[in-house]
Amino acid sequence: MQIFLDSASVSEIERWLNSGLVDGVTTNPSIMYRDGLHHLEAGTKKLAALIDPLPLSVEVTSNDTEEMYLQAKRFAAWGDNIVVKIPQINQDGVPCYGVIHRLEEDGIRVNATVALSLSQVILSAKAGATYISIFAGRIIDEGGNAGDVVADAVEWLDRWQYKSLIIVGSIRTVGDVLTAAMAGAHIVTMPPQFLAKMADHKYTRDTVRQFMEDARKATAEMERPGKPR
Ligand code: E4P
Repeated sequence: MQIFLDSASVSEIERWLNSGLVDGVTTNPSIMYRDGLHHLEAGTKKLAALIDPLPLSVEVTSNDTEEMYLQAKRFAAWGDNIVVKIPQINQDGVPCYGVIHRLEEDGIRVNATVALSLSQVILSAKAGATYISIFAGRIIDEGGNAGDVVADAVEWLDRWQYKSLIIVGSIRTVGDVLTAAMAGAHIVTMPPQFLAKMADHKYTRDTVRQFMEDARKATAEMERPGKPR
């Protein structure tokens, strides 16, 4: 399973980039705004260069399907590692699968985003999306079972041999990460603080502290005057 960072924070991405844990980065307009990258072109180029050759997902900001296509072409020209996020439908419910299909036919990698159901995953895969982002937290917000949606999506893609990779995003807890992992997600994208949370365990800290303390005592003993070596 791959791990992506769901972030536009240069310092947080830099912190984890060379840890061997990070396989890519995803953003959306809300994340870019929150993390202070208000100039879309400059911000995207900065992040793309920072993580190159890892993939960076950047979302279109238009509600019009033709404008989405033209924007996506522009974004893709900003870096070889840029993947364009296209929503399943626009804010008025107009399906965007034709845009996804055209872009993939043009050789531009698409992340079909804001998927909340298996039916949307099926349509995104048929349209040819490289990645499909299932928003686990938002499925749970609505009383749904994100683990079931992810497991069904992965099974269906595998059965019909579609190339699309499932990214599970909208992570709210470490439990969401583990549910996605055990449901067979190809990728989980998470805010950087979840890497620290996943690593931490009180008893691991206590154990390491005990080892440090005993090593310090052994060294003091060895250095005691008159102690045979
Ligand atoms: C994933 O690619 C999205 O950027 C993100 O996970 C959305 O999560 P949210 O529900 O916290 O907005």
